[in-house]
Amino acid sequence: MRYFALVPAAGSGSRMGAVSGRSLPKQYLPLAGRPMIWHALSTLCSAPAISRVFVVLAPDDADWPEETMAALGDKLEVLRCGGETRALSVANGLRAMSGEVDGIADDWVLVHDAARPCLTVAMIDRLIAEVGDDDAGGLLAVPVADTLKRGDEHGRAQQTVPREGLWQAQTPQMFRHRLLRDALDFAPRVTDEASAIEALGLSPRLVTADISNLKVTYPLDLQLAEWILRNRAPTP
Ligand code: CTP
Ligand code: MG
Repeated sequence: MRYFALVPAAGSGSRMGAVSGRSLPKQYLPLAGRPMIWHALSTLCSAPAISRVFVVLAPDDADWPEETMAALGDKLEVLRCGGETRALSVANGLRAMSGEVDGIADDWVLVHDAARPCLTVAMIDRLIAEVGDDDAGGLLAVPVADTLKRGDEHGRAQQTVPREGLWQAQTPQMFRHRLLRDALDFAPRVTDEASAIEALGLSPRLVTADISNLKVTYPLDLQLAEWILRNRAPTP
């Protein structure tokens, strides 16, 4: 059984840029002394279970720091085939991977956002162990802790939405290569891979994670991620 990582990194970070006024794409913003994307790639490359790590860049990306990334070793491979949406970047990446790896159809692909820099090897190992050989694959996720409100257009609470059974989806999300390709062909307008698998009628396994695997969207998230990376006890 082989495991490959696929990291979509062809976004521009428009929500971050709108607030911070910086034009550098979010994945390259400095975080704990490195470009943000370095952290997730470094963790994925150091995970013994993962054979290779493919990163999907926008075709015209001029910010990829070649030298810094070369130091991560030869597990890392750059694919310059990003698309208009995250789902298209992932679909293009999956197609490009088939040209790079023979017989990949039944192997596992762990899709992970470049914007989740606090991933650990322990989280990856747990996901892989809990999904096992489940045909529907699975994802890291956190049970919703807050009380949820449905608001109206005036910013007033209309209704409390029961949080029982609600989860926040994270990444990595892992599926067999062929299944994920078929799912994204069938449901191309999704915001995560699990949604495409659900559209096929399958139910991916929810593997309990924690909020330290946050997605950096706004400037405050960058500060939180910096704090987590600098204060986390070293993993054994
Ligand atoms: N992504 C991608 N291709 C796109 C859009 C997003 O590969 N066309 C990637 C981003 O680079 C990021 C991940 O998908 O690693 C999650 O997306 P998100 O956090 O939404 O990042 P952006 O799309 O860059 O940010 P925003 O939505 O604020 O513009
Ligand atoms: Mg986006």
